[in-house]
Amino acid sequence: MTNPGNGNPKENAGCRAAGYVRDGMIVGLGTGSTVAYTMDHLAQQIKEGLRITGVPTSLQTAMKAREHGIPLLSLDDVTRIDLTIDGADQIDPSLRLIKGRGAAQVRERCVADASERLIIVADSSKLCNQLSGPVPVEVIPFALGHVVRRLEKLGGTVVVREGVKKDGPVVSDNGNIILDYHTGPIENPETMESIINNIPGVVGCGIMAEFSGVMTVIVGEPNDCRILGRP
Ligand code: A5P
Repeated sequence: MTNPGNGNPKENAGCRAAGYVRDGMIVGLGTGSTVAYTMDHLAQQIKEGLRITGVPTSLQTAMKAREHGIPLLSLDDVTRIDLTIDGADQIDPSLRLIKGRGAAQVRERCVADASERLIIVADSSKLCNQLSGPVPVEVIPFALGHVVRRLEKLGGTVVVREGVKKDGPVVSDNGNIILDYHTGPIENPETMESIINNIPGVVGCGIMAEFSGVMTVIVGEPNDCRILGRP
């Protein structure tokens, strides 16, 4: 598929990713504004005869997919996903990620884990030399105080994410609280990911280092895309 060439890096990345989708595929649909462009292009392809089934990673993505006429199944209804297309908030040179600006990192990790192939779409503002947080952390409400204390003991500061046009904390699609853990530069993302995810009460953090070996990153530029990782 060609790029629309309208000078919008996110649209270029989202559009290029849609070109990886083949007839009959089960496609994991990530969350965020860049994947939304992928869905726009998939909707057009569906009108032209493409048959796919999407597995959404958030309520927002499910709503957009339904608007676009993309048939959906839940993760429970499929035994494998051919390809997942998702966004990211930070991408380091080893293609380790921070995700979760949209509070969807737990479902995004589940869907990525079930996928044969993962494509990350982003503009170049997401590329960094070193991951530096904040790291989104989803926590069950029962353990909120405990997890905050455990994270603060590791160093850094913790902020309970507040809603916009809602008083009080953001509640995730899973009914949990989202913390933003301000770590500063992260020397060893794999270790940090494992330490955070092992705190009792944590459902999942936004560091995703384990997919870097199987991932393609499409970096949108104003008039083209760069491909990093798996061709
Ligand atoms: C959602 O929780 C995040 O992991 C998103 O994938 C991320 O924030 C990408 O968003 P944009 O594509 O809007 O930058």
